[in-house]
Amino acid sequence: MSLKDKIGAVRNDFRAAIENISNGPVKLEELRVKFLGRKGKVAKLFSTMESIAPDERANAGKLLNKLKDELELLFNSAVKNVTQNQKQNESDYIDYTLPGIDVPIGSIHLIEQTLTEVKDIFKSIGFSIAYGPEIDDEYHNFEALNIPKHHPARDMQDTFFVEDNAVLRTHTSNVQIHLMENQPPPIRYIVPGRVFRNEAISYKSYCLFHQVEGLYVDKNVSFSELKGTLDYFVRRMFGDNIKIRFRPSYFPFTEPSAEVDIWNSERNQWLEILGCGMVNPKVFENIGYDPKIWHGYAFGMGIERIAMLKYKIQDIRHFYRNDIRFLEQF
Ligand code: DAH
Repeated sequence: MSLKDKIGAVRNDFRAAIENISNGPVKLEELRVKFLGRKGKVAKLFSTMESIAPDERANAGKLLNKLKDELELLFNSAVKNVTQNQKQNESDYIDYTLPGIDVPIGSIHLIEQTLTEVKDIFKSIGFSIAYGPEIDDEYHNFEALNIPKHHPARDMQDTFFVEDNAVLRTHTSNVQIHLMENQPPPIRYIVPGRVFRNEAISYKSYCLFHQVEGLYVDKNVSFSELKGTLDYFVRRMFGDNIKIRFRPSYFPFTEPSAEVDIWNSERNQWLEILGCGMVNPKVFENIGYDPKIWHGYAFGMGIERIAMLKYKIQDIRHFYRNDIRFLEQF
């Protein structure tokens, strides 16, 4: 057999062997020793050099080196494949007897839950739901509600100005004006939404909170209907045993005005939960309803305040910290 033929035979053997490898590195190592080891087939071919005629040796050396390089290349890439396959197999492997991995499921934020409760109660007694702008002009947030510039009532709510004549609404009452501008009476809506005040942040006040506004306008709307509606709401929200009182108050957009307190037996004191009153005729004049024909009541409640009382939460800032230990309790 010529050297060339011997080289060809070793190459073919090696190829066949390496293609049939599937049992991992141990078998590969055997193959390496058999072909590329110090006493392997390639080394054996090198050792036949002595018997080759001197003028053919250079060429024979080249052919043998080429074979060696080729086999090493094939070997190295086979090693790479085997280790990759192994890793893949390990990660594909599933042990069906292990307990499953818990997927954490979030919960609805307590403010959203409370809003849903409030909406459901009012929907059940004939109110529709409306939304309005969080950034508004001073006319809708103040003037149309009978809170003129430089009037002391403006100081009741510290305002964030976005730019000249654009404010972050300080209450949801601005939507009363939008609703009445956009449709003729009768009107019966509640308006949930975010409101903003530039107040010192503490356990009881935050720069952002939620309100639900109510507005009912029709021909015969009385203060006793307002009382009955809010009484019904408070009882459904806090239970039949809750103690409730209406206390005379002042708001520029209602006349007369009142605030509703509920009795907090833990702190042994009355706590305010909402403001309300009969829509001030000046507001009707501002938006073009005839106050001789139309009457209305309005109310506005703080959702954080209600949630704090209902769920016994001491600090309003909990609602905005996104601490899972707080959130997952509800
Ligand atoms: N807008 C008032 C506030 O934020 C709450 C309020 C009081 C709303 C009386 C009303 C109302 O609609 O009639 O303090």
